[in-house]
Amino acid sequence: EKGSFDHFMMKEIYEQPQAVRQTLAGRVDPAAGSVDLSGAGLSPDRLRSFERIQIVACGTAWHAGLVGRRLIEAWARLPVQVDVASEFRYGEPLVDGRTLTVAISQSGETADTLAAVREARRLGSPVLGIVNVEGSSLAREADWVLTTKAGPEVAVPSTKAYLTQVVALHLLALALSRVERPEEGRMLLQLPQRIEQTLAMEPRVRELARQLAGQSHLFYIGRGLDYAVAMEGALKLKEISYIHAEAYAAGELKHGTLALIEPGRTVVALATQEALRTKTVGNMVEVKARGGRVVAVTPDRPDARKEVEVAADALLALPDAPEGLLPVLAAVPLQMLAYFAAVERGCDVDRPRNLAKSVTVE
Ligand code: M6R
Repeated sequence: EKGSFDHFMMKEIYEQPQAVRQTLAGRVDPAAGSVDLSGAGLSPDRLRSFERIQIVACGTAWHAGLVGRRLIEAWARLPVQVDVASEFRYGEPLVDGRTLTVAISQSGETADTLAAVREARRLGSPVLGIVNVEGSSLAREADWVLTTKAGPEVAVPSTKAYLTQVVALHLLALALSRVERPEEGRMLLQLPQRIEQTLAMEPRVRELARQLAGQSHLFYIGRGLDYAVAMEGALKLKEISYIHAEAYAAGELKHGTLALIEPGRTVVALATQEALRTKTVGNMVEVKARGGRVVAVTPDRPDARKEVEVAADALLALPDAPEGLLPVLAAVPLQMLAYFAAVERGCDVDRPRNLAKSVTVE
């Protein structure tokens, strides 16, 4: 039940520290920082025998996959392809026995994802399912299963399932890596506590959401991991508040989308990564020069604030945390932004129109 919360969505947002804690439990050695996925039946040798990774998923799970691609490419140095499951089969997939197909699904019942899994297996590629519902079709059909331990997710908009999928992909990227990465492993263990700190942004996000709730279009921009998180932020807003939102790679703005920026148009700019910050701030300045309004998401550190504030009308300051965790944390205020905008507009947050929790038709 919802307890003291008005909606399951908010309850599930608040369950994220615990969901992530459970997903990490027993899989990361706190002293060595090493990752052990033997619970999924995957030995280190078998895992490291793959030459390519193919990720298939839908919706929010696909967005988690986009984060996963960055991590696997950076840490395991393997080429990764991410496809929307419904499109996978039409591209004459280049998967074979040397490819590990990773299917991500909260419900484990999404028809498109299951169809992609069957196609991958037909082509000889073994499948790892990252799935929340144990005993689901995906859990049964996959060769190996890495369970996310989010617990039942009731609200149609996915929140805690997304965060635990992202965590599972961090674990997979570390397990695929041929070199030990103890710092990244130990960093992950800080995540539950950092999410708790991030939840304290609620009043600030609520205030901003009220200001934005009357808008009909919003843009989300970011680079690298921030771009993947921006896509999830935009989907969440569309899905429950019915405000049209699109995410763009920040550098793509001036290749077309900038034409849509007019006075008052709001752009949510994610700038969590120090090495990319100056460039993203440059894009924020371009937006402001056209009269747009910029809401910046950046860590609560003097250097970051100082650089970003110049080009922002409003700031959503994330708790200062290891940089690798910041894109994950940034998803939390974006979930809340969508939630409060939807509540302000009187929408049915847990059961948005036209949507089902589990999409069992192709
Ligand atoms: O159960 P699944 O993870 O396979 O579901 C995939 C999508 O239908 C789902 O993530 C959808 O996009 C969410 N409602 C978004 O919040």
